[in-house]
Amino acid sequence: MEEVWPVEPRDDATMDEKEPRGGDGAEIILSVKDLTVGFGSNIVLDKLNLDIYRGEILGFVGASGTGKSVLMRTVLRLLPRRSGSIKILGVEYDEVSEEERMELDMRLGVLFQHGALFSSLTVMENIQVPMREYLNLPQDLMDELARLKIDMVGLAPEAADKFPSELSGGMIKRAALARALALDPDLVFLDEPTSGLDPIGAAEFDNLIAKLRDTLGLTVYMVTHDLDSLFSVCDRIAVLGQKRVLVEGTIEDMLTCDDDWVKSYFRGKRARSIVRDGDKKAS
Ligand SMILES: Nc1ncnc2c1ncn2[C@@H]1O[C@H](COP(=O)(O)OP(=O)(O)OP(=O)(O)O)[C@@H](O)[C@H]1O
Ligand SMILES: [Mg+2]
Repeated sequence: MEEVWPVEPRDDATMDEKEPRGGDGAEIILSVKDLTVGFGSNIVLDKLNLDIYRGEILGFVGASGTGKSVLMRTVLRLLPRRSGSIKILGVEYDEVSEEERMELDMRLGVLFQHGALFSSLTVMENIQVPMREYLNLPQDLMDELARLKIDMVGLAPEAADKFPSELSGGMIKRAALARALALDPDLVFLDEPTSGLDPIGAAEFDNLIAKLRDTLGLTVYMVTHDLDSLFSVCDRIAVLGQKRVLVEGTIEDMLTCDDDWVKSYFRGKRARSIVRDGDKKAS
């Protein structure tokens, strides 16, 4: 893949130099400080703080309507903020030129909660949308790159010429992920990527995300309600509540947390069977 990619290799993204995931001294790829976002009198996020480290999968959870999607959209500058700072790859968005902003945007991939693909475009054309927006490449090179992404996300080559209406839910998620990866981003935002998938399809998608983290050094910000994902692939978890990040840490930290919502979420009826299965596997 590296041979055909026209952009210079990034000197800061090689796997060998990468610090351990989330460990002390790991590079902070996204840093949100004192972020406040609201709509009219409805303050959704109030002085929220969150760091994401390079090469980790961060699972972001919280009750419905607490602002998980709002945070993601604000970080992507699709929603305005009242105050606070957002640094991506060490750079404050507001302080860079238009050109530098485009370069930053190219290093981010997104899979939105709703409306994952353009229905009037084939899978191949969907994947090429970001390429057309940001790069000036000949068509045959874009076709080649799109085919690489299709393969990377585990879709059959025939999927390239299909329209979204001809795909299963799982295939649509994979195609949307391929589009999010179109520009070889450093950081991808996934908003509930496994919702609507059956448990086996969801587990396969989780494995794919983990594989991309391990092979590409991808950093993943994943909003999810899927306890299986949280237990199986997330390196760290952050819980949104009371308009801020209530707790963050490993799954073990979540299991010993005293907060009532966190307790019932991670140690409730549904979670307990996963913990039990995990114990069985471990023993
Ligand atoms: N564009 C908007 N205009 C006004 N209010 C909005 C807008 N977008 C979101 N909100 C409000 O912000 C709050 C948080 O919404 P958000 O979509 O972020 O929730 P969520 O945590 O992603 O929920 P879910 O788990 O159901 O996806 C809600 O009260 C919602 O009504
Ligand atoms: Mg949401």
